[in-house]
Amino acid sequence: MSVIEEFGFETDEWQTEIRMIDRFMCAGAWDVLGLMSGTSLDGLDAARLRFERDEQGLKSWRLLDHSERPLPRRLKHDLQGLIEGQPLTASAWAGLHVDLARVFAEFVTAEFPPRANGSIADLAAFPGQTVHHDPDGARVSLQIGSPAVFARLTGIDTIGEFRQPDVLLGGQGAPLVPLADALLHRSLQESRVLLNIGGIANVTVLPPGRGVEGVRAWDTGPGNTLLDLACRVTGAGEFDDEGRLAREGEVDGERLKRWLEQPWFDRQPPKSTGRELFGGSFLGPEEMAVEMAAMGRANLLATLVELTVEGIVRALANLTVDCLYVGGGGLRNTWLMERLTQAVHPLTVAPADELGLPAGVKEAADFALLALEAAAGGAVALPAVTGARSPAGAGIYCPGGDRSSVRPT
Ligand SMILES: Nc1ncnc2c1ncn2[C@@H]1O[C@H](COP(=O)(O)OP(=O)(O)O)[C@@H](O)[C@H]1O
Ligand SMILES: [Mg+2]
Repeated sequence: MSVIEEFGFETDEWQTEIRMIDRFMCAGAWDVLGLMSGTSLDGLDAARLRFERDEQGLKSWRLLDHSERPLPRRLKHDLQGLIEGQPLTASAWAGLHVDLARVFAEFVTAEFPPRANGSIADLAAFPGQTVHHDPDGARVSLQIGSPAVFARLTGIDTIGEFRQPDVLLGGQGAPLVPLADALLHRSLQESRVLLNIGGIANVTVLPPGRGVEGVRAWDTGPGNTLLDLACRVTGAGEFDDEGRLAREGEVDGERLKRWLEQPWFDRQPPKSTGRELFGGSFLGPEEMAVEMAAMGRANLLATLVELTVEGIVRALANLTVDCLYVGGGGLRNTWLMERLTQAVHPLTVAPADELGLPAGVKEAADFALLALEAAAGGAVALPAVTGARSPAGAGIYCPGGDRSSVRPT
């Protein structure tokens, strides 16, 4: 018997009634803090937004402030090891779970001045760091970073564990931003595709209209993960700044063709992926070193850029689109953006900043909206996107209560 059958996980009538009450109670103005630490493990992103809601849902939104900060080196190293499958003791696991929440709490407390009532926000979204995402096999998606610790240290009511409920309902648990994309960025006139090039790249298709009807989204394949890995392995630093090295290289068509034979590229949505597929197991450090010796660093990077671009191009095939809005760290890779723009010509390509949110904090802002939807009893995932049997809310609500000291006692 599955967990779902055993515990009657599906929505039933009393839950619907509670949701109606929540929806009413969430009317008014809300300052919500959205947090993000993506697959690239490059840093912490945070955005504070003011939302206006009524009983029907979201009326308006505006970005109040935002901040980004690199992930502390040791934490990054440990998380990288964990994600790439290095054995870790239970006590080390537990330490990371609390440390990540503490680092986020310190960041937020330092960067976001309290409002007149003394609190930083009415609600926070702390989705944590994905360390294992396997919705198709074991049907798990695990994020570490304790929302309860974060709530306690900052005093902010916090929503966490956004993905597993959707996975339990048969969904991919990702991508989740399409609901936010639909509510924040849909246009009545323009047919839009929003592309986020983080560690993994994903698209949201927003035909002209309102609400979530007709919205589709899926991961397109690698974004920056393999590029970053190639830089690290070949001693070129954490990433290829502005794509300068890749720009000097030539694409190896044979290798590219072989990499594109990975069946995932031709799979139909719903689909989501992570470093489990497009990380060390796709091209591990040793393989990367062999390729580098055979091709040279610049050619390797140029060919990996093309892999990212080709994944995106395949995702856009057969779509009628007015404008492609690009966000995520990949936007700063000038060479990647030039190649993408050429590959999708004559489609207009614009930075996601034009939608009113700096590209680097778009996902953090999206999660702020998801947290408010969850608090209002709504779903955080679109079943049409994730493939879940029914809409799933977020998993955990942690009351902030009195703020504990951010410093270790
Ligand atoms: N100046 C830059 N030049 C090239 N690539 C960059 C630059 N700045 C950021 N990036 C890329 O963007 C990645 C981070 O993107 P981000 O959207 O934060 O991804 P994630 O959501 O996975 O954390 C970095 O790991 C790096 O590959
Ligand atoms: Mg990031």
